[in-house]
Amino acid sequence: MGKLHIVGGGAIGSLIAASAQKNGVPYDCYPRNIKTMPAYAQWQDGQSIALKPAIPAPVVLEKDDVLILPLKVYQLNAALIQWLPYLSRKPTVVLMHNGMGGLEVARDLLGRDYPLLLATTSHGALKENTSCGDFQVKYTGLGVTQIGAPNLAAPSPQKLADLLQVAPQLANAIAALDSALPPVQYRSDILKALWTKLSVNAVINPLTALHNIQNKHITKPEYEQSRIAICNEFTQVANAYGLDFDARSAHENVLSVAKATGENYSSMHQDVTYGRQTEIDAINGYIVEMAKKKGILVPENTLLVERVKALTN
Ligand code: PAF
Repeated sequence: MGKLHIVGGGAIGSLIAASAQKNGVPYDCYPRNIKTMPAYAQWQDGQSIALKPAIPAPVVLEKDDVLILPLKVYQLNAALIQWLPYLSRKPTVVLMHNGMGGLEVARDLLGRDYPLLLATTSHGALKENTSCGDFQVKYTGLGVTQIGAPNLAAPSPQKLADLLQVAPQLANAIAALDSALPPVQYRSDILKALWTKLSVNAVINPLTALHNIQNKHITKPEYEQSRIAICNEFTQVANAYGLDFDARSAHENVLSVAKATGENYSSMHQDVTYGRQTEIDAINGYIVEMAKKKGILVPENTLLVERVKALTN
């Protein structure tokens, strides 16, 4: 099995590293800032797992290695440019982020036939500053990682066993990820899974950030009009690109994720709270951009982009 090389010191990257450590899967971490890389992970049962010391700079990867980029979309371009000289043997690259736009960045830099996996995860993790001044990551909710191979010629193989025949390198990378942080589900229609996650983020993230509330509160009647408008616009745009969504089901799914993650503060809420750049451009901004190309009007999403940007300016 190749090694997992995890870029960035964020919550999800650190969780994958900690879980790899726990399950005996070889890995290394490459945070941007070694000082803010979590030293420990706190499991839900109270177990504490110490992470390996991080590596300060990229190294040449082998073909069976897996480069995982659990970064924000706006960080992806710089990270891939930094890693490009080390990818000549074409190791598998895995993108894992909220929102959309990462695939386009990766295709521009690596080419359309690069061995690439796109993933979305519902595992919950929180990076925290400890009283000793270092960082730890807390595993806040068991989830699932969905993954697919967008650069394979369509139609994508239906099952992982079929993928193993067509693209063994990618199937083995998925198996390595599943050994590190299970469960990992192969999706032949990964773009549908990513658009589904986009619909969830497009409602929960801006509403929680703008109204300074936990996820569960967006289910209240006072946000119903906005929720429905976002889902209607989302559905029009997604369907214009050949996806098959229904606004009512999209809305029901948003409500069920908001309830299941009810006590959480969304990632956008946290970004606003800590004065960090938000992912609004990759979420509601992506819907607005895709709508423009098809001549669809999306006033609710447009307004949310403006209002969230105004919060962080
Ligand atoms: O961005 C987030 O916070 C998460 O993707 C989600 C699903 C909204 C839960 O908090």
